[in-house]
Amino acid sequence: MMHETLTILGIESSCDDTAAAVLRMGAHGPEILSSVVLGQEALHAAFGGVVPEIAARAHAEKADLAVREALAQAGTPLAQVDAVAVTAGPGLIGGVLAGVMCAKGIAAGAGLPLIGVNHLAGHALTPRLTHGVAYPYLMLLVSGGHCQFLTVAGPEAFTRLGGTIDDAPGEAFDKVARLLGLPQPGGPEVERAARAGDADRFRLPRPLLDREGCDLSFSGLKTAVLRARDARLAEQGGITRQDRADLCAGFQAAVCEVLAEKTRRALAAAGAPVLAVAGGVAANGPIRAALMAVAEAQGARFVAPPMALCTDNAAMIAHAGAELYRLGRRDDMTLVARPRWPLDGASPPMLGHGKRGAKA
Ligand code: KG4
Ligand code: ZN
Repeated sequence: MMHETLTILGIESSCDDTAAAVLRMGAHGPEILSSVVLGQEALHAAFGGVVPEIAARAHAEKADLAVREALAQAGTPLAQVDAVAVTAGPGLIGGVLAGVMCAKGIAAGAGLPLIGVNHLAGHALTPRLTHGVAYPYLMLLVSGGHCQFLTVAGPEAFTRLGGTIDDAPGEAFDKVARLLGLPQPGGPEVERAARAGDADRFRLPRPLLDREGCDLSFSGLKTAVLRARDARLAEQGGITRQDRADLCAGFQAAVCEVLAEKTRRALAAAGAPVLAVAGGVAANGPIRAALMAVAEAQGARFVAPPMALCTDNAAMIAHAGAELYRLGRRDDMTLVARPRWPLDGASPPMLGHGKRGAKA
């Protein structure tokens, strides 16, 4: 099917990154012309987590700047943009609102169509942007805010096979790091510490492994690490470097084992030829290796986008917007920012409301 070339401006502000990107959908597939991400780590560092009000204010201040920079880096004047795609949820509502207002201003001012994009759809469609993966495929989204298995059959056709019933795995990595005195974000720190550790020394649970289906849970695992740490504190008044390494290794091995088994089940249920991952936790070496092995054992191709496109960015929003645009989707000034917005309307709502926003 022949398509006209489309140039889309994307805007993302649902958590703690203010991002803007310009993407071109041409005859040879999508091409990222620019992708600007203005992080907020420094603003939240003192609070040990993302503070929604601070995030919202920073997004409101920086969104225009990110857009201007993205257009400049792409060498694309606004006059050459065909549509504005913006994350309209799910996420921290103040930030989503800031992005939606910015997008509405640009769309109204430049007379451009507006497309509201689901942040999770942005992640879930990324394997098409980076690897041209065809529908259908199985997506495992594992980040600080999300954890779910989705079969992706089209830009608006998602079936949720399962997900976390409490914390997201990245959140658990971050909490484990915090309770062992390691810096944030905790994932890479725990992974590093785990290299010198003995994963079998502390007996940690494998949550929900014995329950059918693809749901996951990480909050009990984090509590088990806390208990083991407290036991060491009571016994010897502190934890040694080796204790810390062993706890990190044990925790990571438990996450690996649970994710691998649930992924095996999801892949079998989906019957999809491709397993794709997205989210910051997909950067974890042992987790990535375990997922790759699961895919290989079931004859599926394993696809992991480069890290910069696995984590929050606006190129994925522009790309999802382009796919929706081609389906004829257009929004207008009535577009609303949504704190919750499940991708699969048919599945029951996820429990919980994490620090990084609704679990969707
Ligand atoms: O996708 P992401 O950048 O952002 C949001 O969740 O919004 O994911 C960040 C999460 C953090 O919780 C971080 O600790 C985790 O991904 N993470 C990792 C690793 N690198 C980042 N978790 C485990 N191992 C890693 N190497
Ligand atoms: Zn995200």
